Amino acid sequence: MPNHEVSPCQLVIFGASGDLTKRKLIPSLYDLFIGKMLPEHFAVLGVSRTPMSDDQFRDHLLESARKFIHGLDEAKWREFAQMIYYHPGDSVLPEAFEGIRKRMAEVSQLRKTGDNCLLYLSMSPNLYEPTIVNIGNAGIVTEGKSWCSINRASRPWQRIIIEKPFGNDTESAAHLNRVLGRVFEEESIYRIDHYLGKETVQNLLVFRFANAIFEPIWNRTYIDHVQVTAAETVGVEGRGGYYDSPSGGAMRDMVQSHLLQVMAVVAMEPPVALEADGIRLEKSKIFRAARPIKAADVPLMAIRGQYGPGQMDGKPLPGYRQEPGVDPNSQTETYAALQLYVDTWRWGGVPFYLRSGKRMAKKLTEIVITFKHTPHALFREQTLKKVNGLTPNQIVINVQPNEGIRLRFEGKVPGVGMNIKSVVMDFDYVKQFNAEPPEAYATLLLDAIKGDQTLFKHRDEVEGAWRSVQGVIDYWKENDDEPLPTYASGTWGPSESDIMMDRNGRHWRNPT
Ligand SMILES: NC(=O)c1ccc[n+]([C@@H]2O[C@H](COP(=O)([O-])OP(=O)(O)OC[C@H]3O[C@@H](n4cnc5c(N)ncnc54)[C@H](OP(=O)(O)O)[C@@H]3O)[C@@H](O)[C@H]2O)c1
Repeated sequence: MPNHEVSPCQLVIFGASGDLTKRKLIPSLYDLFIGKMLPEHFAVLGVSRTPMSDDQFRDHLLESARKFIHGLDEAKWREFAQMIYYHPGDSVLPEAFEGIRKRMAEVSQLRKTGDNCLLYLSMSPNLYEPTIVNIGNAGIVTEGKSWCSINRASRPWQRIIIEKPFGNDTESAAHLNRVLGRVFEEESIYRIDHYLGKETVQNLLVFRFANAIFEPIWNRTYIDHVQVTAAETVGVEGRGGYYDSPSGGAMRDMVQSHLLQVMAVVAMEPPVALEADGIRLEKSKIFRAARPIKAADVPLMAIRGQYGPGQMDGKPLPGYRQEPGVDPNSQTETYAALQLYVDTWRWGGVPFYLRSGKRMAKKLTEIVITFKHTPHALFREQTLKKVNGLTPNQIVINVQPNEGIRLRFEGKVPGVGMNIKSVVMDFDYVKQFNAEPPEAYATLLLDAIKGDQTLFKHRDEVEGAWRSVQGVIDYWKENDDEPLPTYASGTWGPSESDIMMDRNGRHWRNPT
């Protein structure tokens, strides 16, 4: 990624007493602190309604740090915690911002962070709009305002990071973009998708565009189809109330956001230069080219499902409708699979299959590129699998866990005679580089501090992604009384999804 510098700044987290702050944001900042990657002058100001002093907030964070930070060094933590402050405030109330601004100024003085600030909305999405409007009215944002006469290079910056979900459908996403656009310049808006912060997703850009051997075959001539799977073994984990809402479900929670982003990185054209605008423009074009699924095709090309009771490792598990906080007649999908086409010269006729589910057989996120068969089945008799001669070549990109890339091809079994078997060439991230991939949030927070938007979504991408699946969402809503396919917990999803693949003579890669 391009080199951007870190500059002094203050990170203001709205929603600081919540789960994301203690589980991801603070542990990631601690890692950056330990790695000496934070600016010398840096501070975190947490804002939420719960009354707490700075010290109480630090104690609250330490408690979870002991749980979430592997190898926590408490002496270092105490040093790190000195840069963390807290201000109780309700960001929905305009009058709260007088206090918030005052506290920001105090913290800035104490830590010499100057006027640069990164605002992080880590709260329920229904609070985004009033909080953004209040930030705007409080005069916190000077960037891009005509009355701010300081020269562009030396003026302070204000950036905002917005968590997912970004909107609930195409219309609400466009509305939120308009609300943001009235306060912030597009260059200051960081729409986060933590999948883009994952090392292997970034490595995909390197894999494709830094190697001469892959790009010539990365097209419809050689590739039969692409699969993107994000499977979780967990269920709703006590958050049934949140998941079982009109804005919940696998399609909105996973497919529309993360999986379409991954698909865009697989499918995009090489950017002109390695810079945020170029990369995001190429991704946007993929969303523009993604063929919307027509209502008549939804039953064939979009599958939803819900987990029923089952078991994992011999342990019985409840079905989704038996989970606390879930409506016993819920029609929310815990599994969604799509067959999409990207109508471009490169991808004409190549299906992209995306699927995500909870309580699946295995926890994994992977991209599978399956190549076409050889034009002539020379070894038909020698192969152990006789379907069309040989097993097609595959590139499997493991996003998590065991980050790495595997190339599967056919090899001769040693010994007399000509027997053929699939073999695997393996690149294991940890073994190769002797390093664990960083937490995605650490990568993304550092990029936002540096002002690098490459791994954040542009407004066109967000709206384009919603448009690609809006037809399916509408169809499912209109046909909400149809019985939902179910799958036993601990399996690979509903059989309807396998039938969708079978219809085209393909099958999901379900690793054991
Ligand atoms: N948790 C995760 O692992 C995760 C992962 C990916 C994305 N996200 C996204 O991150 C965001 C936050 O999720 P979360 O899990 O941290 O939610 P959460 O645990 O419910 O936390 C929400 C926070 O908002 C604060 N809050 C509520 N009303 C407020 C108001 N009027 N003014 C100021 N603060 C207010 C709450 O604290 P008070 O009650 O003290 O005000 C709390 O600190 C959501 O958009 C979620 O979709 C979360």
